[in-house]
Amino acid sequence: MNKNKIAVIGAGLMGNGIAQACAKAGYDVVNVDTFEDAIEKAKATVEKLFSRKVEKGSLTEEEKRKILSHNSYSKNLEDAKDAFLVIEAVPEKIEIKKDIFKKLDDIADSETVIVSNTSGLSISEIASVTNRPDKIMGAHFFYPAPVMKLLELVRGLVTSDETYHIVKEYAKTIGKTTVDAPEFPGFMVNRILVPMQNEAAYMVMEGSKPEDVDNAMKLGCNHPMGPIELTDFVGIDTMLATMTGLYNGFHDSKYRPCPLLETMVKAGMLGKKSGQGFYKYDAKGNKIGSNF
Ligand code: 3HC
Repeated sequence: MNKNKIAVIGAGLMGNGIAQACAKAGYDVVNVDTFEDAIEKAKATVEKLFSRKVEKGSLTEEEKRKILSHNSYSKNLEDAKDAFLVIEAVPEKIEIKKDIFKKLDDIADSETVIVSNTSGLSISEIASVTNRPDKIMGAHFFYPAPVMKLLELVRGLVTSDETYHIVKEYAKTIGKTTVDAPEFPGFMVNRILVPMQNEAAYMVMEGSKPEDVDNAMKLGCNHPMGPIELTDFVGIDTMLATMTGLYNGFHDSKYRPCPLLETMVKAGMLGKKSGQGFYKYDAKGNKIGSNF
């Protein structure tokens, strides 16, 4: 087992960002995704982001080269083999996660800790498909993962103290502050944040302008982004999945997802990543108008 190697499974928005955060801290990271397209997109995103940082002066060419040298990509899950830590960041569907965990359990060293970046699915349920449920826990990053300082730690029913301490120590090495979040839907942040975004979507559905809702929260509460802008930023599908998880998990109508979100996802309006959300975006991701 290589004590400096981390495997990040999934090269989407979250997986790609988590891989960057680990590579920046000096870990050797392999970012695994079975879809070639996802890998190509992840590489292009990193290139664009880092070039902008170099232009801006917040990163030198030398630092860029060093971080990139720690970050590799693979289409083969077997490449997670000798990692001391595996971080799963695949789509938020329990069946997909269980399938990946079953495979990782066979591939990874028996001592390897495997964490899920799920934003609200049951860690105990995911762990139940492995032969090492004590070495499984939740480590929930926030978007954009290289920037956001928080890591929510979520223990399953049988996560061992040793696993918890390994992940807590790892969090420190990549400069994250941890909180212990309960194993309930939405954990801690999303249980508070996502209902606010959902309520904001209801207001747009009832006729408020997205800009007004966003300005209200930015100027009235000093939020760095308004709730509608944030929903487009994180992805409307991701946000809807979390809200649906709260609704189904607590069996409480106060968490009912806004129907407008469901319609937008069906229409393929997924936010910034698809170019269309509450707002419209150009190919560079700049906001160019509103859809409501
Ligand atoms: N990936 C990596 N880095 C990014 C990034 C991205 N997608 N977007 C911005 N950054 C970096 C920039 O490179 C820049 O780094 P630098 O200082 O080294 O140059 C830094 O962030 C600041 O970026 P900008 O100057 O372009 O922009 P802002 O100062 O406006 O900050 C922001 C951007 C950090 C995204 C800020 O608007 C913010 O904090 N927004 C709120 C984000 C938030 O609430 N996240 C939580 C979402 S909920 C969630 O994640 C739950 C999950 O389950 C989905």
